[in-house]
Amino acid sequence: MITAIICLFFLSSTIALEPVDLWTGRNGTVGPEGQCSCEAFLPGSTFPIRDLEQLEQTTVQISHKLEQEIIKVEMYEGKLTVYMEKVVNLTVLIKIMEDDPDSYSELYIQEVKIQIKQVEALIVELQASIQKSSSVLVILRKEITSIIVELTRLETVYDKNLVLVTRREYIKLQQKLEECERRHNEIFNPNIGSCSHEGILRLSKPIISQLNANLNTGYKYGGWGKDSNPLPGSENMYWYSASTGTVVRYISRYLDYYRLIMRQPMKTYDLYASKDWQGIGNNYIVRSNIFYYQFSNPFSMAKYNLTSQTVEYRVVPMATNRFSYHYSASQNLDFAADEKGLWVMYATEESKGKLVLAKIDEAAFALKEVWQTSVFKPAVGNAFIVCGVLYATRSVDIHTEEIFYTYDTNTRKESYVSIPFEKFQENYVYLDYNPTDQKLYMYNDGYYVSYHLWFKQNNQPNEPKHLIENITD
Ligand SMILES: *[C@@H]1O[C@H](CO)[C@@H](O)[C@H](O)[C@H]1NC(C)=O
Ligand SMILES: *[C@@H]1O[C@H](CO)[C@@H](O)[C@H](O)[C@H]1NC(C)=O
Ligand SMILES: *[C@@H]1O[C@H](CO)[C@@H](O)[C@H](O)[C@H]1NC(C)=O
Repeated sequence: MITAIICLFFLSSTIALEPVDLWTGRNGTVGPEGQCSCEAFLPGSTFPIRDLEQLEQTTVQISHKLEQEIIKVEMYEGKLTVYMEKVVNLTVLIKIMEDDPDSYSELYIQEVKIQIKQVEALIVELQASIQKSSSVLVILRKEITSIIVELTRLETVYDKNLVLVTRREYIKLQQKLEECERRHNEIFNPNIGSCSHEGILRLSKPIISQLNANLNTGYKYGGWGKDSNPLPGSENMYWYSASTGTVVRYISRYLDYYRLIMRQPMKTYDLYASKDWQGIGNNYIVRSNIFYYQFSNPFSMAKYNLTSQTVEYRVVPMATNRFSYHYSASQNLDFAADEKGLWVMYATEESKGKLVLAKIDEAAFALKEVWQTSVFKPAVGNAFIVCGVLYATRSVDIHTEEIFYTYDTNTRKESYVSIPFEKFQENYVYLDYNPTDQKLYMYNDGYYVSYHLWFKQNNQPNEPKHLIENITD
């Protein structure tokens, strides 16, 4: 049986990205393409004008490279459309031939096979080009990130207005890059929202957006991200909350990424404005325009409706506030969202501090189903959920974290794994997955950091050979 899946091997393949070191390579490392020198980003003088001039020159260069990549992506998209059409046409043809094998000559069958081989060769070629282009994007991302970090530093040292123009340019660049990456990702991974994979394979290098909106590394406690199930029209929105302690009081919403980076909130909500609706622990999430968080008093789960600005809270049966995560106190209720909905993770006295996972019925705002894991919560750095599978992290060293444990609610199976990833700063209090873009969002000692995820593909039809395997005689 020959089906249209013959094209999928191409779409589900993963990108082999070049390793790029974000913070140790800032003294002018040459990247894999030979063109990445970061020396320009280290200011040589005490007067920022020189620094800014250099940054502006670099902006022009990066912008140029990015334009070229965008043109390439457009070309790939065009080619891909044509190849898809060819594959569809051939699939239809094969179906007709299968239904009536006697009406077709050997010669004709041979010709169809040749056509299939041609498409296959074209796809291999396109795959190689896209892979090359992906590593260029990683380098550009690295360059832009270094500059954003540098701009943030300049801003804290010099007059902000002086730096503002350059910053605007960079944010534009960053947005373009995101757009380019998004389109790349669509060519490679059109399966956002799907769970037809076998879990996380690896994480990208950390993508550092910048220091938080409070412009202060003292704001170590916080979180940021996007709505995991946005209301129509709010797909581009970001949210952010932070404080210098574990108490959760403010949450800001931003129209888009640009406003987030420019620190221009659409609105900042104060959970202490009229009544004491404050939270604690920084393991909140925004879903369907609702802010879910750990209510401070009484100890319970709360939902703050960002539209109506009203709060509701519910005691989580059995949950205790005695066991926090490793990096910070009071992290007793950790909210998470994935392709399957809303979850909360906590520990109970009965479980002696072992992590418990519960699915939340959003409409009823009550626990729907509960799973007991065997991992001790205080040993966990943080946890998140993807496709109903819990992933728990722990520290390896100051620059490395690892996913060390998974619990699959679909099969009730747990396993110990090692999926290492880099962190920008040693500590973090927030790590959550967002199913709308398959990224992890981390609040890393005051910095907005995110990670791209790669998934294990089941029975990965990764080789173009699959195109012809099914058509043998
Ligand atoms: C970068 O260069 C400066 C000046 O030469 C030096 O002081 C610093 O230690 C270097 N940093 C790294 C990470 O190599
Ligand atoms: C696919 O078939 C349609 C209809 O026969 C045809 O118009 C089109 O050009 C074909 N596409 C390719 C890429 O061969
Ligand atoms: C949030 O408040 C708005 C406005 O009152 C309401 O329409 C919406 O249904 C509320 N959402 C939830 C989930 O309660």
